[in-house]
Amino acid sequence: MAPVPRIQFDTVTMRFGGLAAVSACSFDIPAGEITGLIGPNGAGKTTAFNVIAGLIAPTEGRVFLDGKDITALPDFQRQARGLSRTFQLAHEFSRMTVIENLMVSARNDIGENIFNAVFRPSRCLGQERRAFDRAQETLAFLEIDELAYERAGNLSGGQKKLLELGRALMQEPSVILLDEIGAGVNRTLLGKIADKIRQLNAEKGYTFCLIEHDLDFVARLCDGVIVMAQGDVLMTGTVDEVRRDERVIEAYFGGGKYQDAS
Ligand SMILES: Nc1ncnc2c1ncn2[C@@H]1O[C@H](COP(=O)(O)OP(=O)(O)OP(=O)(O)O)[C@@H](O)[C@H]1O
Ligand SMILES: [Mg+2]
Repeated sequence: MAPVPRIQFDTVTMRFGGLAAVSACSFDIPAGEITGLIGPNGAGKTTAFNVIAGLIAPTEGRVFLDGKDITALPDFQRQARGLSRTFQLAHEFSRMTVIENLMVSARNDIGENIFNAVFRPSRCLGQERRAFDRAQETLAFLEIDELAYERAGNLSGGQKKLLELGRALMQEPSVILLDEIGAGVNRTLLGKIADKIRQLNAEKGYTFCLIEHDLDFVARLCDGVIVMAQGDVLMTGTVDEVRRDERVIEAYFGGGKYQDAS
């Protein structure tokens, strides 16, 4: 029997006014794999991520995580079940340091409220210490220890993307959705981000789904690819299969963005 997909996106429609950004769209994100989600600008990729992460409620359709219907769950409850994501535009707190940015992203198990702060200070302190330890581990894993006390606003575009990945890791996730983590990142840092994703997948079994416009990056990392166009899945397959497919070439026609760099 095939394993249950980590995520099932089941006949989802997301309408904004008269526009269906996602239209009766279904796909699976298989467990333990790195899946690419590609498609031309405006195809509905980020909207699909927003629905999966619980940022917006779909007009129709359902989302399953590990076979359980999570459509009605708020985003933080999805995070508690291991789902984490990064944003297309990095959204760091620019006046805070890198380590503070990581710490505020830590999974909060006891609930940060005034009751706990006043009546259970030791639990809050324990949680803060764990967040600090995990932030340090995350910095070491991403090899950005030297940036710990740098203001996030001073980081380069690529370093901000690494921090974005770090913030997702602070949630102690097992499924991570990456929205254009490689966009605008220089080759060296891109290679490093790819290595870290591969390592988390191979060593910890994390499931990834990554939206990316750079098909070479996708080819290096992804087991399978989902192609979206106009709010629905155009096809799924390996990178080579989708690259050769006439419908995919047609969907990108005129863009030129997806042609081989070689
Ligand atoms: N909050 C919103 N309100 C209105 N329209 C929206 C909203 N979010 C997305 N859209 C529209 O839905 C469509 C799909 O957008 P989406 O951001 O999901 O595309 P995408 O595939 O991520 O594109 P890109 O590759 O450019 O990031 C677009 O036409 C977009 O303008
Ligand atoms: Mg997008």
